[in-house]
Amino acid sequence: MPLSNVTSDRLNFYQRIRYSIFPGTRHSRTDRDHYRQFFNGLLLHFRPRTVPQRTLGFTLTWGLGGMAVVLVGILFLSGLMLKFSYQPVPDRAYESIVRLQNTVYFGQLIRNIHHWSGNALLVIVFLHFLRVFFSGAFHTATRQFNWVLGLAMFLLVLASNFTGYLLPWDQLAFWAVTICTGMLEYIPGIGGGLQRLVRGGADIGPATLSIFFAIHTAIIPAGLLILMPFHFWRVRKARGLVIPRIPGDDPQDRGESAAAIPNLIVRELAVASVLIASILIFSILFNAPLEAKANPGLSPNPTKAPWYFAGLQELLLHFHPLFAVLVIPGVILGLLLFLPYLRYDADSAGIWFVSHQGRKTAVIAAVSAAVLTCLGILANEYILDFAAWLPAVPTVISNGLLPAALVLAGIIGFYRWIKKRYSTTNNEAIQAVFVLLLTAFVVLTAVGIWFRGAGMTLGWGGW
Ligand code: HEM
Ligand code: HEM
Repeated sequence: MPLSNVTSDRLNFYQRIRYSIFPGTRHSRTDRDHYRQFFNGLLLHFRPRTVPQRTLGFTLTWGLGGMAVVLVGILFLSGLMLKFSYQPVPDRAYESIVRLQNTVYFGQLIRNIHHWSGNALLVIVFLHFLRVFFSGAFHTATRQFNWVLGLAMFLLVLASNFTGYLLPWDQLAFWAVTICTGMLEYIPGIGGGLQRLVRGGADIGPATLSIFFAIHTAIIPAGLLILMPFHFWRVRKARGLVIPRIPGDDPQDRGESAAAIPNLIVRELAVASVLIASILIFSILFNAPLEAKANPGLSPNPTKAPWYFAGLQELLLHFHPLFAVLVIPGVILGLLLFLPYLRYDADSAGIWFVSHQGRKTAVIAAVSAAVLTCLGILANEYILDFAAWLPAVPTVISNGLLPAALVLAGIIGFYRWIKKRYSTTNNEAIQAVFVLLLTAFVVLTAVGIWFRGAGMTLGWGGW
């Protein structure tokens, strides 16, 4: 008899509890149907019922947004487990990590999983950011704000990695955080106060550790928990992902639709399974680094920032700190925030690299930036020294304003040249400048990580 015909007083105690939790299962016939209906219903709260067939191809998203979600999930789970044994006070933090590694069952593995997932998340979110940009999925009205939300989440992921970095309280952690929070001092007016606020005092100490711990394990996770559903909701409101197309395709043509279950869900599960297996294998093979316990009296040489801030640290070697720490990153962040709202004159949503010409100008920008950044670093190391050449001028001008103005003039010159030489659309020219800055940032980061040795001199530095 179909269960829908069964009145509740004829159900036994177990059935009454079960149907109160899974009401949908009362109306289906077999146990298999019950569960399928329940899980499908649950999934469809998060997923659309149908999706455009063309957005299912792996080469649109590369699974990157989904991977970011899985990694955040792994981090929450492993982070909660770490909380059972980690003690956020300088006297005991390092020892609690050593104890976790040596005496707690799977302690080392859980720490490795947390460590590698945190680092992987940064790389994956960065790649997701690039895929969204280069597939033109950020400047149509329905997606503009999602780009801004994405940037906010990117900053949270960065802050999460940075605050987590201090927690093991080893030499690496202590000195990297000393360097990075030291940079705050150069912000005019509020720098000193901001630095004391972040450190909880003049120096890195017990207050810093407890502030970082609270931010790491409560504030940032709460921020992510709020922003992530907002981000996914915006994707739903944009009627799903951008539809991939080639130049000349009709932008209105959404193509066929396919049921999200099983088409989308199976693909997501496949990506998640491969990712989880990879993180697990990597964490079994490679231990998270742990150096000697923090010693505030003995700084390692060179003292390097975490790898994701290596570009910033490299910038600090070439520009006055005010420009390296505040002006340049601030201007770039501002530009990124407003990027979706600039005036675009071609509808390139869904077309990789805007057009054939866009692809060509992007390559030209990447090669030019790689060569010019390397030359700039070498010149500044061995020849250029504005501060020495202009001793009467304050260094904030000779080492800050002057080189920054030269770089800015170079960027504007490049923009004009590419527009004129290739008669590009706005979309192509903006993309070329984006690639120019992106490549410069990647080169600076690579040099900071691998080519700075003792005393931060140029040479093979390892990491
Ligand atoms: C923790 C960080 C992030 C998570 C968990 C996340 C997650 C996702 C997911 C699952 C999707 C849909 C599938 C996909 O595109 O792969 C998506 C789409 C999107 N994301 Fe993110 N994202 C994050 C960061 C970012 C960043 C940094 C940006 C850009 C600044 C961004 C901008 C977008 C946009 C514009 C879309 C819509 C793309 C389209 O319509 O094709 N997201 N995100
Ligand atoms: C986006 C989310 C997160 C990221 C990117 C992240 C990243 C990190 C990183 C890079 C470390 C240093 C690991 C090491 O080298 O030892 C760390 C440590 C730690 N994290 Fe997280 N984490 C995240 C979320 C969480 C959450 C939600 C919790 C707990 C509620 C948590 C708890 C901890 C604890 C207790 C440590 C110290 C243990 C240790 O250093 O091994 N984390 N985290």
